[in-house]
Amino acid sequence: MKVIAVSNYKGGCAKTTTAVNLAYDLAAEEERRVLLIDADPQGNASYILWRYNPNANTLCRLYGGKALSSLIRRSKYRNLDIVPSMSGLEQVNKESGALDPNELRRQIDNIADRYDYVIIDCQPTMQFLTISALYAADLVIVPFKAAGFCINGLELMRDYLEDAAQQREYIKDLQYACLPVMFNGRGKSINRIKKLAEQDAYAIFDTFVSFSTVCENAEDQSVRKPLLKHRKNSRVAADYLELTKEILSVIEV
Ligand SMILES: Nc1ncnc2c1ncn2[C@@H]1O[C@H](COP(=O)(O)OP(=O)(O)OP(=O)(O)O)[C@@H](O)[C@H]1O
Ligand SMILES: [Mg+2]
Repeated sequence: MKVIAVSNYKGGCAKTTTAVNLAYDLAAEEERRVLLIDADPQGNASYILWRYNPNANTLCRLYGGKALSSLIRRSKYRNLDIVPSMSGLEQVNKESGALDPNELRRQIDNIADRYDYVIIDCQPTMQFLTISALYAADLVIVPFKAAGFCINGLELMRDYLEDAAQQREYIKDLQYACLPVMFNGRGKSINRIKKLAEQDAYAIFDTFVSFSTVCENAEDQSVRKPLLKHRKNSRVAADYLELTKEILSVIEV
């Protein structure tokens, strides 16, 4: 089993879109057994993948002493389970003083035989839940808006990743790679962005995810679907499928 966290301290840079579509494509297209952990109190991934039930146990309960295995729910899709979130999860960040950020990986290791991939959708702040996800991850995907030619804003994230790699207990190597999203340029700008990333020594995925209004439509209350379910033939759905294959080539179990 491998754990993949999708994180950036920046808001609105397609973390949830990436986590949801990677999880779905791995499960539905690539036949892998996948668990998505929604570690964002906003609960956006849960909203898309899960039939909401306010009485269900969510990730909050992990920090009230429940085992992670008891918090797993079936998503709407085959091969894809979910540990949902809800707004009460924010309380965990506020009261995290006595909690151990290594606990999440410890708990994930207890269910390692049930899944090939665990995907964690993080919130856009570096609080306890996000640190826990970085401590748990074999690979961190850092999506960033690749509009224009800039790759600004990744330095701080790199510092957090380097700290996590040094401080966590369970796994030594932390791989990370930056994912250009909302890209609306052409071949030339792809090369330009890749060059800039290389100069600053950021690992970057080969896949660039295109800008598309299909993403917003897929989240609409009346839709709430992964991109392949909503618009199978869209460019952005194909981009996420390409990303999924690239990830399998980088971090196969
Ligand atoms: N490739 C894309 N093209 C255009 N819009 C996109 C793309 N990916 C995501 N979006 C839209 O951008 C918005 C933010 O996306 P998303 O919720 O995935 O970001 P996030 O990083 O998870 O946000 P937060 O920091 O609030 O958790 C959403 O409205 C989403 O539909
Ligand atoms: Mg999100």
